[in-house]
Amino acid sequence: MTDNFKRRDFIKTTAAATVGGLSLAGLPGQAQGSYYVDGNDQIKVALIGCGGRGTGAAFQALSVKENVVLVAMADAFKDRIDGCYSSLTSEKNVKIKDKVKVAPENKFVGFDGYKKAIALADVVILTTPPGFRPIHFEEAVRQGKHVFMEKPVATDAPGIRRVLAAAEESKKKNLKVVVGLQRHYQTSYLETYKRVIDQKMIGDIVAARCYWNNDGVWVKKRESQMTEMEYQMRNWYYFVWLCGDHICEQHIHNIDVVNWFKNGHPTEAVGMGGREVRKGKEYGEIFDHHYVEFKYDDGMILSSQCRHQPGTVSDVSEHLIGTKGRATEGKIFDLQGKSLWRHRDTEDKNPYQVEHDVLFDCIVNNKPVNDAEWGAMSTMTSIFGRMATYSGQKLKWDDAINSNISLMPDAFTWDTLPKTLPDADGFYPIPVPGKAKVI
Ligand SMILES: NC(=O)c1ccc[n+]([C@@H]2O[C@H](COP(=O)([O-])OP(=O)(O)OC[C@H]3O[C@@H](n4cnc5c(N)ncnc54)[C@H](O)[C@@H]3O)[C@@H](O)[C@H]2O)c1
Repeated sequence: MTDNFKRRDFIKTTAAATVGGLSLAGLPGQAQGSYYVDGNDQIKVALIGCGGRGTGAAFQALSVKENVVLVAMADAFKDRIDGCYSSLTSEKNVKIKDKVKVAPENKFVGFDGYKKAIALADVVILTTPPGFRPIHFEEAVRQGKHVFMEKPVATDAPGIRRVLAAAEESKKKNLKVVVGLQRHYQTSYLETYKRVIDQKMIGDIVAARCYWNNDGVWVKKRESQMTEMEYQMRNWYYFVWLCGDHICEQHIHNIDVVNWFKNGHPTEAVGMGGREVRKGKEYGEIFDHHYVEFKYDDGMILSSQCRHQPGTVSDVSEHLIGTKGRATEGKIFDLQGKSLWRHRDTEDKNPYQVEHDVLFDCIVNNKPVNDAEWGAMSTMTSIFGRMATYSGQKLKWDDAINSNISLMPDAFTWDTLPKTLPDADGFYPIPVPGKAKVI
């Protein structure tokens, strides 16, 4: 999967020998790509980001057939570590609870705990909000650790370039990396891919549509004692440096499927978007809808919609239109709408579990798996779409991926001011198409 990308498209972004000023050499004395560090067959895992997905991913890592234990946890907030720990060790998790062997001193709270947690593990799970992923992935690779990391893998172009550089290094170190774009591990998609790409059942793909339209997600309240940094960290979905906007955080899944089937990424994007119902200050700075036309280098247009507006029609899907038919997840039709194939999914394994089954199998048996570059390119495609809707301009891929606009704060402390701040009434500036500078 990862070798399939058209390397000329981003080769200039991956040439750096160092990343963010850090040398990517392995740690002294550690075998490159070995899965254990102390001579037994137990695989130690550290969890960085102990929220909803982190708890789920840790459960899945501990559910593989290999001998896996959780030895370290890191989170910005103590209450999130405590909640995750008690969930994983609860009586209802009888199959995995005894594999949670996290000593109190190996629970790390704050922005810097990730380094110490990574040092204790063979495999790290990176499940913070995506703004931190480049920093955490870079450090995991620097320390020579195998990685499961959630999508998206960044929120801006400088972050993508850091991930691409670390991805190159991870390959040199024979590290195994799985990215949580789980449709690549889902039988219904894999069976569709076989028929569309290997058997060419719909002919050549000439157009595509994809959607993530639904009501939206949670909101976290501002408490009086919170600093601005704590508030944005708690309510991270609504701040672009942390989340990437919902086109990046959720719609990436659908855009990624089209990239996968097209074996590449778009080269142009033009779009529109804004906020129609997301008016309150609790919704930070993100849009509630985006529409993007992405153009691939063969001229194919992907029409992409994502919307968070309660009460509107829900649709989360991808559709490929070919010269001989149409395909969507698990279904293929001819051009007249007659069904040609339908996947029966009663026996399919949970793709979130398959991701971990594959990762640990590849680690133990030294088989190749490295999704980092792919994950970075699909993340960049969703950032590219956001740049198009925020700016209202027709944008080129090369300009977007080489943008030097960093959204990240200059430092990570509870008193640091993030780059986007509220006005006196608590409202954040919203990007204005025609005026917003994105590149
Ligand atoms: N593949 C999927 O279907 C899927 C589903 C849900 C979430 N996700 C992804 O998983 C990631 C986490 O989402 P979630 O729903 O679990 O969010 P969450 O808010 O429940 O958890 C995130 C955790 O990270 C912690 N955190 C934030 N910054 C940190 C830092 N610098 N260091 C350490 N910890 C930090 C937070 O305190 C929180 O506990 C996101 O990237 C999201 O897109 C993927």
